[in-house]
Amino acid sequence: MQILDGKLVSAAIKAQLADKVTELKALGQKVPHLAAILVGNNPASETYVASKVKSCAEIGYHSTLLRFDEKISEKHLLDNITLLNENADIDGILVQLPLPKHINEEVVINTIDPSKDVDGFHPVNVGKMVSGLPTFIPATPYGIMLMLEHYNVPTKGKHAVVIGRSHIVGTPVSILLSRNSNPGNCTVTLTHSHTPNLKELCLQADIIVAAIGRPNFVTADMVKEGAVIVDVGINRIEDASKKSGFRLVGDVDYNAVAEKCSFITPVPGGVGPMTIAALLKNTYHAAVGQKGNMN
Ligand code: GUN
Repeated sequence: MQILDGKLVSAAIKAQLADKVTELKALGQKVPHLAAILVGNNPASETYVASKVKSCAEIGYHSTLLRFDEKISEKHLLDNITLLNENADIDGILVQLPLPKHINEEVVINTIDPSKDVDGFHPVNVGKMVSGLPTFIPATPYGIMLMLEHYNVPTKGKHAVVIGRSHIVGTPVSILLSRNSNPGNCTVTLTHSHTPNLKELCLQADIIVAAIGRPNFVTADMVKEGAVIVDVGINRIEDASKKSGFRLVGDVDYNAVAEKCSFITPVPGGVGPMTIAALLKNTYHAAVGQKGNMN
């Protein structure tokens, strides 16, 4: 069994991007600038956004963090997105999800200028991705593909079972895995809460992408010998022995499943750091006006 080490691969990608920033500076060009919007105090969102901002600084990008109270009106949030759209110094905009219930996420995402939508959530960019056109690929699926590519994980002709159909992970990763590309060329089964025979499907899978948000959901009896396991879950479990009072576990029962599989992503240190690396790649492409690194 080989661990798919997201920390290692993301560090390599960040080092490449840092070199590109040095080149931009040497040419007298502006460095990439990411604007992140965080609404409210969701602890997980706070951690993710802090990590994104810190990673920008590490590789020489500029970043701007806009924080708003959870009671912010939708109009005020939209006005701020419009200001970022119009600000020529800002290359990429991300609004950390989820948003408070009174704010319509769809309206918010639709307000982001598609050319600055480094999360790849705007319908224009989703449409381009589905059509196989150059665009921003959502960071988590893009990070997964970069990880599979880095480790030369065989995907051609394999059966991939994706668990979870979210717009952020499950749906886009199923499209990317089924593309005529490398990595890609999988036969994909996209499963969800209404899939009746999930265990049987998983037992047929050469690759399982678990993106359901339920701790230890994928157990060893669901996994075929030699399968590839990509664990997207980042679940907080109470743990009194930790200073924070919690520890992070994935959607996969790691210890038992690791014994059976050929490759596995750990949690933490697997898909999480790759998501950030992919976001930084998208932001670079937004800044230099190129997209389509997956095409
Ligand atoms: N919430 C969970 N994942 C993501 C992501 O990739 N981008 C944003 N903006 N919010 C998220």
